[in-house]
Amino acid sequence: MALRKIVLKNDDVLRKKCKPVEKFDEKLGILLDDMAETMYNAKGVGLAGPQVGVLRRIAVVDVGEGLLELINPEIVKFKGTQRDVEGCLSCPNEWGYVVRPNEIIVKGQDRTGKYFQLKLKDFFARAVCHELDHLDGKLFIDIADEMVDPKDLKD
Ligand code: NI
Repeated sequence: MALRKIVLKNDDVLRKKCKPVEKFDEKLGILLDDMAETMYNAKGVGLAGPQVGVLRRIAVVDVGEGLLELINPEIVKFKGTQRDVEGCLSCPNEWGYVVRPNEIIVKGQDRTGKYFQLKLKDFFARAVCHELDHLDGKLFIDIADEMVDPKDLKD
């Protein structure tokens, strides 16, 4: 496994729409392993392909409930709303309030290509929505309704 370089917000690669993953091969496994290692090393809860310069529909998420690998993910159902503070490994030291669905059903494939469906809520749902936005070139700073001074988050 290896750490990959995290792309920062002014890079165009973060603004592109990602293509679906078509090959479920060894290279994909290595990418997923590297992405998880990079996310944990940066103390993040999610990381999407474009953030390591890979324009494919792929993301990893771990909000403390174990690692979730998402390949070609799609939200097929959402319910309710929640508003809370978000950050992003590509936007260091920026925080802002974002409204997200409170509950989602996400469909995707695992690293072997097998399809699955998951019902997620609260922070887990938020993290997955944030990562899926990355796959369409969207950042949380585009949709935050209020930015927060990091100093105000300390207490
Ligand atoms: Ni992000």
